[in-house]
Amino acid sequence: MEPIPVLIVDDEADFRSLLVEALEGEGYAAAGAESAEVALERVKARHYPVIFTDLNMPGGLSGLELIKIIHELDPRTFSILMTGYATTESAIQALKRGAYDFIQKPFKLAELEASLERALAHYRTLRENEAYQTRLEEMVEQRTKEILHLKDNIENLFEGFVQASIVAIEARDPSTSGHSTRVATMTVGLAEAVNRTPHGPYGDTTFTERQIREIRYASLLHDFGKVGVREQVLVKAQKLDPQRLEQILQRLHQRDLELSLALLERAWQDGVAFEPGRLEKVLEDRRSETRELVEIILRSNQPHVLPREVRDALDRLEGLEFRHWDGKPRPVLESVDIEALRIPKGSLSKEERDEINSHVTHTFRFLSQIPWTEELAQVPLIAYAHHERLNGQGYPRQLRQPAIPVQSRLMAVADVFDALAAKDRPYKKAVSVERSLGILEDETRVGLLDQEIFRIFVEAKIYEMTLSQHNSLGAAP
Ligand SMILES: [Fe+2]
Ligand SMILES: [Fe+2]
Repeated sequence: MEPIPVLIVDDEADFRSLLVEALEGEGYAAAGAESAEVALERVKARHYPVIFTDLNMPGGLSGLELIKIIHELDPRTFSILMTGYATTESAIQALKRGAYDFIQKPFKLAELEASLERALAHYRTLRENEAYQTRLEEMVEQRTKEILHLKDNIENLFEGFVQASIVAIEARDPSTSGHSTRVATMTVGLAEAVNRTPHGPYGDTTFTERQIREIRYASLLHDFGKVGVREQVLVKAQKLDPQRLEQILQRLHQRDLELSLALLERAWQDGVAFEPGRLEKVLEDRRSETRELVEIILRSNQPHVLPREVRDALDRLEGLEFRHWDGKPRPVLESVDIEALRIPKGSLSKEERDEINSHVTHTFRFLSQIPWTEELAQVPLIAYAHHERLNGQGYPRQLRQPAIPVQSRLMAVADVFDALAAKDRPYKKAVSVERSLGILEDETRVGLLDQEIFRIFVEAKIYEMTLSQHNSLGAAP
């Protein structure tokens, strides 16, 4: 162990040397100083845990002054006053200036050592506490760093999952790619615009940073439930699946051949097969009937409003038969096919429409599985209400205005706008921005969308935030 430095300050050379030698004999690194000034030089050059100083030293600073300066210079040093005429007053003065102790001259060496040991014991305790405190602070700092790093990692991990989920949803219907991100961009922009609006029904509404994060996650994942909807329903452009249509047309063609064959057989049996032009006419009649039936099917298969004459002609599709390879007659169109072709507008049957609408409930169920932090606890509920409408005509719960979270009302405006203005989908053409805003305005008039939120959407030009992406990407309902 390194010898502990101790400084003896006294103008009496013999006394000083005596103490220095005695302390050196005890294993201390003792040094002497003949004046307060010399002592200060020493103290500046190295740290002394303990300093003994005389009270009066002629021609310079007194011991009391030295104690005060040392206490300011290096508060860790313990100063002990040695005085020949200790009075209560000088003792108090010394302690006031930061002295640790005092001893009265003349003293025995043992007294000095006892005082020194007491000071050192106290000195060590203080240093140990200091070291402990420093270690503790370092540890806390280190742990804090680790926790913050972990928090960053968890947030990145979660963000990654959200992005992967979006890829999963949008991969099922490529024409909607980018929709979730655009709706999130616009809804967050709209929430921030509401924060900047000082008047009107939302003048007092302020979304905190935490709520904005909540809105962002709810928007990014609002259509996640589409993973629970069958793909053929999700991307359905016409009333019949392309494969089913092909099958029906092929059956019609077969029916045509079967009937022609039967007619030919009869003509043969009746002996009229060789009458000039007769056969051709029979066959041509057959073909023109088939052409008409194909026309009815192709026209009624389109998603636009069903023209009256096509609707009436659909009766002709009932009861058509062809012969299956097992020899038994089968209907060319099943009743479900004819029912699909009778859909008055759009390509979806009621069941299929219900299935698409069920994405909201799926979204809620999926999002409710995530153990959201308290800060993001509302994400499932905000997403759950994105198809609710103020007048109760939305789905799935037909909520009315007060029951629909404001965040969901913001999202509804962004969602409808993006669904309209984004690029063509198989089942609908893109609508211009002006026309889309017009449709949105109509929806506010009939009480579907929130009028004030739409006003802010237009005033703050929120729709421009994603415009550049509309030509290359798509949207979803
Ligand atoms: Fe949706
Ligand atoms: Fe959507």
